[in-house]
Amino acid sequence: MKLLTVIGARPQFIKAATVSRALAAHHPDSREILVHTGQHYDANMSDVFFDELDIPRPGHHLGIGGGSHGQNTGRMLEKLDALMVQEKPDWVLVYGDTDSTLAGALAAAKLHIPVAHVEAGLRSFNRRMPEEINRVLTDHVADLLFAPTQLALRNLQKEGIADSKIHVVGDVMYDAALYYRPLARKPAWFDALKVGEFALCTIHRAENTDDPERMRGILAGLAESPLPVVLPLHPRTRKQLAQFHLGLPDTVRAVDPVGYLEMVWLESHCRLVVTDSGGVQKEAYFHGKPCVTLRDETEWVELVEVGANVLVGTDEARIQNALASMRPCVGDQQHLYGQGDSAQRLLDQLIRGASH
Ligand code: UD1
Ligand code: UDP
Repeated sequence: MKLLTVIGARPQFIKAATVSRALAAHHPDSREILVHTGQHYDANMSDVFFDELDIPRPGHHLGIGGGSHGQNTGRMLEKLDALMVQEKPDWVLVYGDTDSTLAGALAAAKLHIPVAHVEAGLRSFNRRMPEEINRVLTDHVADLLFAPTQLALRNLQKEGIADSKIHVVGDVMYDAALYYRPLARKPAWFDALKVGEFALCTIHRAENTDDPERMRGILAGLAESPLPVVLPLHPRTRKQLAQFHLGLPDTVRAVDPVGYLEMVWLESHCRLVVTDSGGVQKEAYFHGKPCVTLRDETEWVELVEVGANVLVGTDEARIQNALASMRPCVGDQQHLYGQGDSAQRLLDQLIRGASH
């Protein structure tokens, strides 16, 4: 089987690392062509993951990033179309909900190349999020949909997607968390802080970073944190803070984005996580840490249901209250996201699909 995988943003490198490793180990007859769209391009948003996680170097790098959603998606679509015509893959594999995901899925579907979508069926039901548009459209052109949870399966069924296309395989991010935890690395700058006595925070969602009022609410909430807050700062957030002339409170220690191995160390050694990230909400749970989510809704509702996650939006008082009151939680005792073998399970289905 010849597989063409489209990746471009930080979480996709991490997801692809587990799947590419499982493909090489269990399906040596298959060939994977990795295409990096260039959506994330800073060394600490891209190269670091290829260096640390043993991801094969992309066969193609499209160099498209930094534009608006429409510009990025359109330019990716044009280049991916030409590349797929040239490479003639049996399947195109896409991950998650970024502009690179949608461009990969759409380019393939228009060329009648079958598309497999990893992390299918997630819904926030908030169509103002660019990610929601990307997910819905990708799921509706995909031929194989790998849903991480039963809830994701139900979301797809409600939208009329045929059961025969959907497989609940668990979450490849859980595979990654288990595989990389023993390799986690303490950041060199950490020594001024104490293990278990800091909050780990990430902020990058457009709905927050592009709205100065929401950002003000978050910063005011973090200013009241009883613990120091470590904030690996996404480049989008850095730019928006400067644009809105917003400063960080004294409780917050901003650092450059960290590699995944350092991130896993921080997640494993913090007291709690504060985030608007999708992936980081789940990783908090994998590492047994409570999560305060800076959003009004989440796709990962099971985390809220089991009490591991609380949604606080961007209201100062709610953030402050949650920071003071969230208690330690137990990690993935209930196997909400599979058994850590999702990559293998999805590849088995993909290979089966390719042979029909
Ligand atoms: C994207 C995804 C989001 C995902 C996130 C993961 C979309 C619509 N959004 O959001 O779903 O959660 O990645 O991190 O695809 N920038 C840099 N250097 C970089 C990358 C980005 O400076 O290496 C800056 C640029 O100003 C860029 C902006 O960040 O325009 C936004 O980047 P973009 O990839 O469009 O969206 P993200 O916010 O990163
Ligand atoms: N991550 C990282 N370094 C950081 C921040 C996040 O390695 O400085 C990892 C994090 O552990 C998770 C992934 O990036 O695996 C999540 O990506 P992000 O929050 O950018 O996107 P989302 O999951 O919201 O799409």
